[in-house]
Amino acid sequence: MQRLGLLLLFCGGLGAVLGDTPANCTYEDIRGTWIFHEGASGYDEAPDCTGFDVKKTHTVELLYPDVAQDEFGNQGFWTLIYNQGFEVVVGTRKYFAFSNFTVVSNTSVVSHCSSTFNGWSHDLMSRNWGCYFGVKTTLSVDKVSEHPRKFDLQRKYVANEEFVSKINSVQSLWEATHYPEMYGWTLGDLQRRAGGIPQTATPRPPTAPVSEELRLAASQLPDSFDWRDRDGEDFVSPIRNQGQCGSCYAFASMAMMESRLRVLTNNSLQVVLSPQDVVGCSEYSQGCEGGFPYLIAGKYAQDFGAVEESCFPYTGKDSDCISETSCTRYYGTDYYYIGGYYGACNEPQMRLELVKNGPIAVSFEVLNDFMHYKGGIYRHTGLTDGFNPWEITNHVVLVVGYGSEGGVPFWIVKNSWGEDWGEEGYFRIIRGVDEVSIESMAVAATPLVP
Ligand SMILES: *[C@@H]1O[C@H](CO)[C@@H](O)[C@H](O)[C@H]1NC(C)=O
Ligand SMILES: *[C@@H]1O[C@H](CO)[C@@H](O)[C@H](O)[C@H]1NC(C)=O
Ligand SMILES: *[C@@H]1O[C@H](CO)[C@@H](O)[C@H](O)[C@H]1NC(C)=O
Ligand SMILES: *[C@@H]1O[C@H](CO)[C@@H](O)[C@H](O)[C@H]1NC(C)=O
Repeated sequence: MQRLGLLLLFCGGLGAVLGDTPANCTYEDIRGTWIFHEGASGYDEAPDCTGFDVKKTHTVELLYPDVAQDEFGNQGFWTLIYNQGFEVVVGTRKYFAFSNFTVVSNTSVVSHCSSTFNGWSHDLMSRNWGCYFGVKTTLSVDKVSEHPRKFDLQRKYVANEEFVSKINSVQSLWEATHYPEMYGWTLGDLQRRAGGIPQTATPRPPTAPVSEELRLAASQLPDSFDWRDRDGEDFVSPIRNQGQCGSCYAFASMAMMESRLRVLTNNSLQVVLSPQDVVGCSEYSQGCEGGFPYLIAGKYAQDFGAVEESCFPYTGKDSDCISETSCTRYYGTDYYYIGGYYGACNEPQMRLELVKNGPIAVSFEVLNDFMHYKGGIYRHTGLTDGFNPWEITNHVVLVVGYGSEGGVPFWIVKNSWGEDWGEEGYFRIIRGVDEVSIESMAVAATPLVP
């Protein structure tokens, strides 16, 4: 049996103009019993899985909350990845595929959550690759997502003095400003910079309950912490600018690796890694249209490794994969959603991970007041910009520290909008209240020192 994969759909397909993948498959859609249809294995490298012959099947039960069990009784792990697909580790193999969907029109998508596109499997050492797809034994209903464009993405951004002064008059935690660099941009450019053009957003999971044990562990941590200044040493790489490409996930992923390589080597290894390699080469993300750090800082780094910026300099556009094979590759090992799986995150666990191992990638919902952040502790105002319509996006950034000021706890976050934005490229945001969902899906990944 031959199966067609995701690639075909994206090459010039309608999907190409939209963010992430348009699948909208939730935890309950995915949980249950799956048959994995597997092709030949034994490939040294990732095979092209767009078409393959099924050689055998494998039954895997995905149980609450994160246990995967196969027909031999092996117990392993699984996690949902937002609403995009899921990863399974069971019986010494690791499986990942995106959930199946059909693009009906440029505003309508059907998610077939009881099957996946063709995906990849390999052993726990990223060797012995093969292709597979999954079909769930209890078919869930195909879900139709209608997402009419609420405004013209080609429309130019309009400077709005009144909006900025209104933000400044209704609250005093943070200050808003104008960014003249936005003037020539279209609303689509702004949406992409903030995470991608949204189409099938799903509610984020609530933060996980905090046990007494966890509360106690976190109470041992310092009151404030900043990887940019550990006894005068800076373990965070320089601020960068992603421009008008929806590559925040690639910047945050590379920034986490860069910083953690510094942490692991007491700052003796200071590299800048290439987001363009991710944009141009990764099949685990959608180039300038979005992606997820679990699959990049985590899975892509483990399976393919990252290269240095000089190997594939940033262009800010979708591109072919032209990384020289001679370039050093920086691989990763462990990666996980903080708390263990998608849906298990909370604030104390984020701090424990941050202090112990280094900066963490988080994603949050960008509202249009955020664009104007200049300094202070961000908290959304609920104000809307009457001239410039906006849809909430998922933006990925890097948490490098925390603290509190005037009794207000905050995170210190590295953005990828250049040094002239915010507090020299950084922002602070209120901590402990899952503000704009920033505590709902944090990711940690460990790079390997080459
Ligand atoms: C979506 O499709 C409609 C009709 O098929 C077309 O008029 C419209 O321009 C398209 N919009 C975008 C954003 O591509
Ligand atoms: C996706 O789902 C559709 C509808 O159920 C099905 O016909 C198709 O074979 C599936 N595609 C893949 C690649 O699994
Ligand atoms: C995605 O699914 C969730 C849960 O079923 C739903 O709340 C949300 O509205 C869906 N999004 C779209 C765009 O259909
Ligand atoms: C780490 O580097 C700093 C600055 O070079 C040095 O003072 C410190 O002793 C080093 N730490 C260790 C554990 O070697």
